[in-house]
Order: sequence, then C-alpha cells, then structure tokens
Amino acid sequence: FQPKLLAGKRVLITAGPTYEAIDPVRGITNLSSGKMGYAIARAAREAGADVTLVSGPTSLPTPHGVRRIDVQSARQMLDAVMAAVSGQHIFVGVAAVADWRVDNASAQKIKKDGSGDAPQLHFAQNPDILATVAATTSLNGWPYCVGFAAESENLIEYGAVKREKKGIPLLVGNIGPQTFGQDENAIVLFDESGHTVLPRATKLELARQLVSEIAKRLEQRSLL
Ligand code: C5P
Repeated sequence: FQPKLLAGKRVLITAGPTYEAIDPVRGITNLSSGKMGYAIARAAREAGADVTLVSGPTSLPTPHGVRRIDVQSARQMLDAVMAAVSGQHIFVGVAAVADWRVDNASAQKIKKDGSGDAPQLHFAQNPDILATVAATTSLNGWPYCVGFAAESENLIEYGAVKREKKGIPLLVGNIGPQTFGQDENAIVLFDESGHTVLPRATKLELARQLVSEIAKRLEQRSLL
C-alpha cells in the first residue's frame, strides 16, 4: 500500500486573474485563464490533500473535491487567503494578481459629460498576497510557500532573485512564450540549491510533477 503523496496535508491555492473595478460595470483585469492554478488544485486533491482554491473570475469548472472561494479584487483575494491560511501546510500563489487597483473607482457608472474629456484614473498599489503569507511563515515554518513568475526575459536570473525577494523556498517560472490560456506549458523550479527544468507538457501533467516535487521537499524538510 502506497499512501498518497499529500495525504493529511492542507493546501491553499490562488488562481486566475483579479478584477479591479473602475465603476460598477467596468474594470481592469488580465489574460490569466486560471488553468495552471486549477490543474494544481486538481493534482493536489488527487494526491490526497484537503484543497482550498481562492479564485479570481474564470470560466473553469471547480476540480472535483476542491473547496472553492470566488473573489474579484486583489484585496478580496488577500482577505480570503488570510481567513483560510491558518492550519495550511502548503500555499501556492498562482493567481495573476493585479499590481495596481483603481483608487478613485466610481460608485456609479461614469458618464460621458459632453466635454470630450476622458475620466482620469488614479492607481494605488495592491498588497502582495504571496509575500504577505510568506512573511507569516517565519514563526512556525508553515505553510510551505510556492510562487510563480512570468518573466518576459532573463527568466533564470530573475527567477532566482524573485524567489529570494519574496522570501519563499520554491518559485516556479513559466518558460515562454506566453502561456496564458494555453493547455501546455514548460516550467523551471527555483529552490535554494538551484534550478530544474520541467519540459513542455500539459498543465495537468506539470501540475502533477510540481505536486510531487513539493511533497519531496516537504519530506526532506521533515528529515532535517
Ligand atoms: O512580483 P510578481 O507579480 O512577478 O510575482 C508573482 C508571484 O507573486 C505569483 O506567485 C503571484 O501569485 C504572486 N503575487 C501575489 N500578490 C501580488 C502580486 C503577485 O500573491 N499582488
């Protein structure tokens, strides 16, 4: 009998884009489909974990057996994550969180005023959800934090730097070109001992490999 890789483990995942309102009917979002995050949720569930998925707006079905919490904005995502993070063993931040939100969003639909002037949007920086969770782990070592990076150049150099800057043990780099919405990807894992490439495959296959890489690292840590 082979116990499942993540049996008894609780895993919290963010996925999809965020949506930052301009007014009640307009907003700013990005091209994240949520496919990679949902695939990781499915793979973690298959591996026996108790999985909570905090999701921005997507059109994807909830993976079987996964608890899903829907949010729109980055701040709602942070609130949902912080409400669920206690007792989690693993946090995987896959969401493409908007770096900025509209600071002067209108409570009413913005109307054309006839002057020809366009509305002025002001932006405020959003909280970094992954860095916030990572900063809480130093107390007891949980949850084990995994981040993602979508760089357009110098992935190997920037990935290693980003892992350190975010204060996380494992960072996953998307190997371009543009993976948003695609069913396949190739990724590179950065940890304290260097980097490892997982070659092109479907997002579900990569998600399963990533789950076993995470399980392997958790096991190594518990032996320390
Ligand atoms: O800094 P950058 O946006 O490239 O970092 C990407 C990683 O950080 C992803 O894991 C993403 O989910 C997470 N992130 C976050 N909150 C933000 C920005 C990024 O959790 N506001």
